[in-house]
Amino acid sequence: MYQEIDLDKIDINEEPPIEEPDRQYYFMAKCRKWVKGFEQKNGRLPKSCVLNFGCQMNARDSEKLRGVLRAVGYVEGTEDNADFVIYNTCTVRENANTRVYGRLGQLKPVKKKNPHMMIALCGCMMQEPEVVEKLKKSYGFVDIIFGTHNIYKFAELLFTRCESERMVIDIWKDTDKIVEDLPNDRKYAFKSGVNIMFGCNNFCSYCIVPYVRGRERSRKPKAILREIERLSKDGVSEIMLLGQNVNSYGKTLDEPITFAELLTEIEKIDGIKRIRFMTSHPKDLSDELIDVMGKSKKICKHLHLPIQSGSTDILAKMNRHYTKEQYLELVRKIRAAVPDISLTTDIIVGFPGETEKDFQETMDVVRQVRYDSAFTFIYSKRTGTPAAVMENQISEDVIKERFNRLLKEIQKIAAEVCVVHEGTTQEVLVEDISGHDKTMVTGRLSNNLLVHFPGSLELIGQYVDVHLKECKGFYYLGELAGR
Ligand code: SAH
Ligand code: SF4
Ligand code: F3S
Repeated sequence: MYQEIDLDKIDINEEPPIEEPDRQYYFMAKCRKWVKGFEQKNGRLPKSCVLNFGCQMNARDSEKLRGVLRAVGYVEGTEDNADFVIYNTCTVRENANTRVYGRLGQLKPVKKKNPHMMIALCGCMMQEPEVVEKLKKSYGFVDIIFGTHNIYKFAELLFTRCESERMVIDIWKDTDKIVEDLPNDRKYAFKSGVNIMFGCNNFCSYCIVPYVRGRERSRKPKAILREIERLSKDGVSEIMLLGQNVNSYGKTLDEPITFAELLTEIEKIDGIKRIRFMTSHPKDLSDELIDVMGKSKKICKHLHLPIQSGSTDILAKMNRHYTKEQYLELVRKIRAAVPDISLTTDIIVGFPGETEKDFQETMDVVRQVRYDSAFTFIYSKRTGTPAAVMENQISEDVIKERFNRLLKEIQKIAAEVCVVHEGTTQEVLVEDISGHDKTMVTGRLSNNLLVHFPGSLELIGQYVDVHLKECKGFYYLGELAGR
């Protein structure tokens, strides 16, 4: 286990071990020696900066990269002053890719000025062969390129680059491997993401994730529970279980276990006060899970349940395996079991063939469910997915007009839903000093909404009761209760 491994005790003159994670600790020890050499030469430690462009799983992967960098001796820098910049990329929509190329272009002159500088690219975008070709051809100043399946090999790749001074490229098509017990560096002391599974088997027809993240693999329950116990001992009280479809957790394990059973086990861990999870696919949300959520004292009163479209025809073309009516029935069951639950969703506007009538079905679901908030996306054509070659791709004008109508409706409803809690007192976990006013702190309610209230640094990580004085549409202004 990471905490127990002393890198200085590893014999780096021996051959590298074959087994993981020992092999990576060996390369971390080698990198540490390299870092010490850098320090001697330059009179300072090298700085690194990891930027993530994608979802919460992408953010969690970045914490793993930061964990390795910290272990080998790098200190935190910024994109402008770092000796090592790592972009952990996303490719779920075209604009995610565009952002990476834009930033990379800006890094080129920075690298020219700093002869020590290294640049690494990893994450979902690197799993696309066209991207790697383009990088090789036009972005020769990149030092390391690796993908999603071999992220655990980061230390080894970094060392290879330090030795060889040549571009290192290592991309795997898929993997069935999960390497446990590598370091990570949490952003917050009191809360953490926890991967429970990797990959996705659903192949929604618009989505590139199954192609770049590979087949679904669940971590063993024991490994998950051990990680959460360790986090709890380290001061973490809120965890977010992560997977592309957490509701199918455990189905492919040698000893199958359901997501609801896993939650029941996690609930027993002392010190954990809040449990969140994402994402839930409606087709796999079981009655057993709804029952566990209804009874739980720790599972937060928030469910993110992506609908994608309200039209049963479009849902079929999206390969989502549920109808509008089935989704609404699920919502009814969840609300019956957890009456004050907050519901959020993802919606795609402009999927190929979407008519005004289909769009109205989406608007209808939004009005019926009354989401606390919703992420709305303009359909983005992803090469290699079935939807990319479907007929009737929708014009940009039509999509934008629908998108704006949808956004307006969502915002109006969200403000109406948010105001319901105005005047109540609720327990919040204080997360940070407010970004707008240094005399205020920001806390999160069980239902995932934020409240800003007067307070200072020492409240961070604490649970306090806050009176929600005023609803501001999608957040609150409040004050500590009893004052
Ligand atoms: N596994 C999760 C979502 C992962 S991607 C789930 O199934 O809910 C996050 C969101 O991005 C999706 O819910 C979807 O709304 C959106 N998305 C995925 N592919 C997209 C595409 N090609 N164009 C626009 N939005 C997309
Ligand atoms: Fe993509 Fe669908 Fe898998 Fe989510 S469930 S990651 S939308 S294929
Ligand atoms: Fe993006 Fe990969 Fe997540 S494509 S949304 S970073 S799984």
